[in-house]
Amino acid sequence: MPTIDLTAEPDDIAEAARLLRGGALVAFPTETVYGLGGDATDARAVAAIFAAKGRPRFNPLISHLADADAAGEFAAFDERARDVAARFWPGPLTLVLPRRRDCRIALLAGAGLDTVALRVPAHPAAHALLAACGRPIAAPSANRSGRISPTSAAHVRAELGGRIAAIVDGGACAIGLESTVLDLSVKRPVLLRPGGIPLEALTDAIGDIDLAGAGDAPRGPGMLASHYAPSLPLRLAATASREGEAVLAFGGAPPPGFAETAWLSRSGDLAEAAANLFAMLRALDRPEFSGIAVMPIPERGLGAAINDRLRRAAAPRN
Ligand code: TXA
Ligand code: MG
Repeated sequence: MPTIDLTAEPDDIAEAARLLRGGALVAFPTETVYGLGGDATDARAVAAIFAAKGRPRFNPLISHLADADAAGEFAAFDERARDVAARFWPGPLTLVLPRRRDCRIALLAGAGLDTVALRVPAHPAAHALLAACGRPIAAPSANRSGRISPTSAAHVRAELGGRIAAIVDGGACAIGLESTVLDLSVKRPVLLRPGGIPLEALTDAIGDIDLAGAGDAPRGPGMLASHYAPSLPLRLAATASREGEAVLAFGGAPPPGFAETAWLSRSGDLAEAAANLFAMLRALDRPEFSGIAVMPIPERGLGAAINDRLRRAAAPRN
């Protein structure tokens, strides 16, 4: 299938919305990463998302909406959920909520669970597309399953070119890490995946949040040990170089002896490092290097999500 390139201009957004309403798959930008979109109410389109990614069907998808009102058609929002949505939407936060009985999102998108994961993205092109489409768009990150998430249209083409109908190019993603996934379907909120909204910001807003325990059964690809993986081995918290390695540097000069250096952030800025992380992992993933080393990244703020992705990228491959 030839994959057509679309811009974020109104005519192209209208074309992308037509394709989605017709059951086709369209990749589109969000402020976190590019999504592989399909009509969430169309079980065939949802099945095609799993097939295009090579994703196991037990891993549920996030459905994207233009605004919180639209989200209310699909999930039961209690006062706490309404409050969180009002504070953080549009933005890099996904809420897991009880499915409404009349919810039209295909059961396959939720992997048969009685909850749905909803997000209202802040990227203007995503908002325009969702408004034009008028339906919830199921969208995992637009990469082959287990690989590095895409933060540009070129990354999407490299991952999925020939497998999807179109790619909407909205430039580089400003945040560069996936959304934070917060489970509000239970009494005490649970952080299912660290992401673009730091845990500290959520805790300030709603108080204590439980962390999904390491021993819990995986609930999705974001919870699987090996994910976001480059082809080369990845070595974390490196304080010295090894023969032939490239390095992702952060905050200060890297130790001597690396074959190449890419700066996540010279000044030690976590937001800048998050925005650069996936693109730089891709850029350094070249056979001329023996591996990729990463300097230590602090665990605070967005550092928690950066370290989560790095640990999964470094985990033994299955
Ligand atoms: O930033 C993002 O979230 C991007 C953009 C495109 O929105 N999307 C994304 O989707 O990262 P994906 O499919 O790569 O990750 C979805 C995450 C997984 O960790 C999955 O386990 C969780 O959401 N999830 C989805 N539905 C769920 C549910 N009903 N209960 C628990 N977790 C759920
Ligand atoms: Mg993903």
